[in-house]
Amino acid sequence: MENDGSRITIFDTTLRDGEQSPGCSMNVQEKARLARQLDRLGVDVIEAGFPIASDGDFAAVQAVAAAVPRPVIAALARAARHDIERAAQALQSAIRPRIHIVLATSDIHLQHKLRISRQQALEQARDSVRLARTFCNDVEFSPEDATRTDPEFLFQVLEAVIEAGATTLNIPDTVGYTVPAEFGELIRNIRQRVRGVEGVTISAHCHNDLGLAVANSLAAIANGARQVECTINGIGERAGNASLEEIVMALRVRADQYPYTTGIATEHLYPTSQMLEEITKIPVQPNKAIIGRNAFAHEAGIHQDGMLKNRLTYEIMTPQSVGVPGSKLVLGKHSGRHALSLRCDQLGYHFERRELDEIYRKFVVLADQIKQVHDHQLLGLIHETYGEAHRIPPGRVDSDRSVAAAANAEGQGRRLFPAVPAAPASDFSAASLPNTPGSEHLPDQEDYLWGV
Ligand code: KIV
Ligand code: ZN
Repeated sequence: MENDGSRITIFDTTLRDGEQSPGCSMNVQEKARLARQLDRLGVDVIEAGFPIASDGDFAAVQAVAAAVPRPVIAALARAARHDIERAAQALQSAIRPRIHIVLATSDIHLQHKLRISRQQALEQARDSVRLARTFCNDVEFSPEDATRTDPEFLFQVLEAVIEAGATTLNIPDTVGYTVPAEFGELIRNIRQRVRGVEGVTISAHCHNDLGLAVANSLAAIANGARQVECTINGIGERAGNASLEEIVMALRVRADQYPYTTGIATEHLYPTSQMLEEITKIPVQPNKAIIGRNAFAHEAGIHQDGMLKNRLTYEIMTPQSVGVPGSKLVLGKHSGRHALSLRCDQLGYHFERRELDEIYRKFVVLADQIKQVHDHQLLGLIHETYGEAHRIPPGRVDSDRSVAAAANAEGQGRRLFPAVPAAPASDFSAASLPNTPGSEHLPDQEDYLWGV
């Protein structure tokens, strides 16, 4: 694949390594559906399956190749003739096929799993890459458990497979054992020590057993890797693979540290994550970076106050940039008066500060008991305290805050606060938060202390 030096190839293995995580297996139709979404997302390579594993996986590779002509379609094979032939067969209709060969190189795997010598492994690696090249010009080789392999032997194997025609050298941290400085150094040493490496792409494939998969992938990029293998939602064997959305957004948000580009259309990240969750029924952890349901939710009063004044205070990227509809302010015991007042307005009740203080006092007692206060419970509090006395006249539900907010929005004149939903929602959207201070009556510090 063409690479101008700063473009990172995103190799998505959700359909292969991701699928290997318990409970995540997908049928042919599901794989084809997700592949179309991965295409929309803009991944460069889709690893569609392991054709020798089952007839279903063979059919899935064929179906993915037929469904998405743009990306490279990879199929995994062990370093064995039958595996490679089966992969080549499954890829027959792919416009840009890649055979991905894996063979372990660490002594632990050679002695206990494969029961072969280093010399045998080296020959098997070289011969299988040669065979794969008879079917396809794009051949990736992965020395499984590379990070626990004697580096000198690893370099020898890599040189041998380059000579045999490998076009991508993928360096797997199969058991998630390495740490960023060490992995970065390994990639650097491969670039310096392996003959012929300048003509191939170096790739990183990191697992998350120590929670370092993304950090290790970024270290690899910083040291010369130009392909990263990753999965949506970070699914994969055991603790998972490096999460695609985290790598891509780290590169984008911290472009000052990582001056690299990808082909990912980031606004498709959340929809892709949701589709995978729907297909596998494996829920994303709420605090998962980028796409978890709390990734753009704010409960603490101090944070909500900051967000209502300027979202830069507590958000380093916009939710829209990753396809999340909007930020959310959640009403709980940590919430403050600014957010409460906003929600009351959105529900159709307007209070001056002293009146709101009374609602706030009761709200905190309730939130202490039930953790999150939903709209119907807030409406109950309002009703029991003031009845309908503070109802905003029909047709003006949204307008009071809009006027105030518009005044703060440097004359943009747009509707800054979302309308009250027809059915009470549990969280409310702060999708159009003002970017300038919102308080008119009190000095800044006093307003801050009242609001949080
Ligand atoms: O983790 C691993 O070593 C793998 C290889 C097939 C690349 O998934
Ligand atoms: Zn893996």
